[in-house]
Amino acid sequence: MSCRPAVISGVGSYVPDRILTNADLEEIVETTDEWIVSHTGIRERRIASDEQASSDLGLMAGRSALEDAGIGPADLDMIVCATVTPDHFFPVTANIMQDRIGADNAAAFDILSGCTGFVYGLYVARQFVATGEMEHILVVSAEKLTSITDWTDRSTCVLFGDGAGAAVVTPGDPAAGDTGLLAFVLESYGEHGRLLHVPAGGSRQPVDGAALAAHDNCLKMEGPELFKLAVRGIPEVTEKVIDRAGIGYEDIDWVIMHQANIRIIDAAAKRLGIPEDRVVINVDKYGNTSAASMAIALDELYREGRLQLGDNILMVGFGAGFSLGGAVIRWSR
Ligand code: ACO
Repeated sequence: MSCRPAVISGVGSYVPDRILTNADLEEIVETTDEWIVSHTGIRERRIASDEQASSDLGLMAGRSALEDAGIGPADLDMIVCATVTPDHFFPVTANIMQDRIGADNAAAFDILSGCTGFVYGLYVARQFVATGEMEHILVVSAEKLTSITDWTDRSTCVLFGDGAGAAVVTPGDPAAGDTGLLAFVLESYGEHGRLLHVPAGGSRQPVDGAALAAHDNCLKMEGPELFKLAVRGIPEVTEKVIDRAGIGYEDIDWVIMHQANIRIIDAAAKRLGIPEDRVVINVDKYGNTSAASMAIALDELYREGRLQLGDNILMVGFGAGFSLGGAVIRWSR
């Protein structure tokens, strides 16, 4: 089987216009801006309109990534959508985007692996491109988390927001020294699944009157337990993935962690010994957008002109599952 480098040839992102501030939340639940900022680092988040589903957000990000890559929808061989807030169980969100974007030659499927979803999606895309099976794959992470938010639960409703990010994965040019998507590590700890779950709406528990009364169709979270798993898991996954990439900590130019809580990001960066100015942060603006968070951060880093050719980007995701995922990407643009 042939093997060739796979690179990110285009990125894009989209967040809805409507901003929900901490002051707005003070009107909804018993909380304060001071509590939210000091416990999470979040100042505001974006909220999709009633008319916007995850696919609408994903389409905006996906179109932007295609434009950045300089390819059209008909060039796509596959669309992979990472989301825990699909428009429907089926057709899956990737099918909906495939139709609406006009990707007539593309296969399409969703990945539901929570906040690690973008790393999972890039890994899948790399495998198909590296083996020569496919040429262009669009990975879209799109979330409307406010659709599964319990607006009566102050311990979760202050944390989440809506948004989407996307990347096009394409063959690199070995002659030009492209290495692109260098290494991945994916891990699953299903024994911790109940720490972050939506109890009703699947085949286990229907959304009946009792479920609605208990808000069991919404996200439930044991925040402090997840906090500990994340702070421990991020350095462990990082060590494995940079070892697999054949680089050292000193070679990491940028760290993009899942944007759930500034305290998790700070604690993990400190443990890793990575300087603050190399750590990408946007949790203050968008809150936790699950699968979309690292994709949005990558797009912003690129569009702000901070990425240089050859930079090593470390991505580490953690979240529902409990899942962990790390990637090392050498920027080839
Ligand atoms: N406003 C005011 N007080 C609050 C709020 C709020 N919004 N929420 C909770 N509190 C109170 C609690 O009731 C508690 O009060 P008590 O001491 O009187 O009982 C106190 O604040 C402390 O609560 P904790 O839950 O211990 O607060 P903590 O400092 O742990 O912060 C948080 C909670 C922000 C959820 C944190 O634990 C966290 O970020 N955890 C990780 C979340 C995460 O990473 N999730 C995984 C990814 S998400 C995904 O995959 C979709």
